[in-house]
Amino acid sequence: MTVNVNLPANGYDIKIERGILKKAGEELKLNRKVLIVTDDGVPSKYAETLAKECKESFITVIKQGEESKNFDNFLLLQKVMLENGFSRKDCAVALGGGVIGDLTGFAASCFMRGIDFYNIPTTVLSQVDSSVGGKTAVDFMGVKNIVGTFYQPKKVLIDPDVLETLDKRQISAGLVEAVKMAATFDEASFAKFEEAESLEDLDIVEVIAKAIQTKADVVEKDEKEVGLRKVLNFGHTLGHGIEAACSDVRLSNIWEDAPYEKDMHKHGLLHGECVAIGMLAMCDTEVKERIEKVLDKLDLPTKVSFDFDKALSAVTHDKKQNGKAISCVYVKKIGSYEMKDMMADELSERLATLEI
Ligand SMILES: NC(=O)c1ccc[n+]([C@@H]2O[C@H](COP(=O)([O-])OP(=O)(O)OC[C@H]3O[C@@H](n4cnc5c(N)ncnc54)[C@H](O)[C@@H]3O)[C@@H](O)[C@H]2O)c1
Repeated sequence: MTVNVNLPANGYDIKIERGILKKAGEELKLNRKVLIVTDDGVPSKYAETLAKECKESFITVIKQGEESKNFDNFLLLQKVMLENGFSRKDCAVALGGGVIGDLTGFAASCFMRGIDFYNIPTTVLSQVDSSVGGKTAVDFMGVKNIVGTFYQPKKVLIDPDVLETLDKRQISAGLVEAVKMAATFDEASFAKFEEAESLEDLDIVEVIAKAIQTKADVVEKDEKEVGLRKVLNFGHTLGHGIEAACSDVRLSNIWEDAPYEKDMHKHGLLHGECVAIGMLAMCDTEVKERIEKVLDKLDLPTKVSFDFDKALSAVTHDKKQNGKAISCVYVKKIGSYEMKDMMADELSERLATLEI
């Protein structure tokens, strides 16, 4: 299955197919120098498979985690390319989750003012979300994604088989972005989440393809996020606040003995889990009930204990003082959205509904 991201100057194809990693040589132009960037959480067999498809490959393995999306690693990639005589005709391939995709895309966009970039995303989140739209970045001085570029990949390959090694919690958290896109644009896809008995019951290839198509439609209309693309922030306004404030979390609807419960306490919530909770305060009651049921089924949290003041301050950026409204995505009916300006007081009330 192929989704074309139809952009005026730099459109590209996203090909979704089980086992496509093994055929990367047929799909991508790899008969040149290829920088393969991956991290130490991604099983090394994937990079080895890809390297076999390249004429001359240089595998760089970065430490897993958001902390790696930094300038040190950006410089490391520049260094590897420079020291190995890369020219403008060579290319870089990201083989990992969103961290690797954002970092490698940014490095490729800067080396010699831009070399070809291919993305092979290996988490659900990076497959359904960051594979589309060409946003690249590193984090800097504690601010996420603050330095980066819009740089479209030449092609994206999505191999759902690589998800076999991804842990279940990461799969659920990644699916939140697909639920979000269905809730705002695509009632039929949302119904598929409702019909499934559990995560295992979902047709993952179809879920990925539908989410990508939805995001591609949005990006085609608003490549540089000046308008429509903001709708992709459904759940993110309060979600970001919770993310900033949930270092010591307690979740309502996850079993005490869930295998990842201990991990969750230690590391706080994943981004997708925060967005999941954030969606629930930005919709009408009937919509909330429907989303909640889907989240439950996917083993995602629907309420959380967090430092309320810290979360509110992250949400409002202290706009309380100057009385500025924040534009939020709100869903009255599944498959549609509206933009609503909300003042700090309203955001505070809505945030309070998410606390245990
Ligand atoms: N560019 C965009 O449009 C965009 C959109 C959304 C998110 N993002 C960015 O994406 C990042 C989050 O991405 P993520 O959720 O993929 O996290 P991630 O890249 O940190 O990956 C999560 C974990 O999964 C492991 N992993 C990856 N693939 C695996 C596999 N197949 N098997 C086993 N383990 C595997 C990684 O080692 C890592 O520990 C954030 O930095 C966020 O800012 C970018």
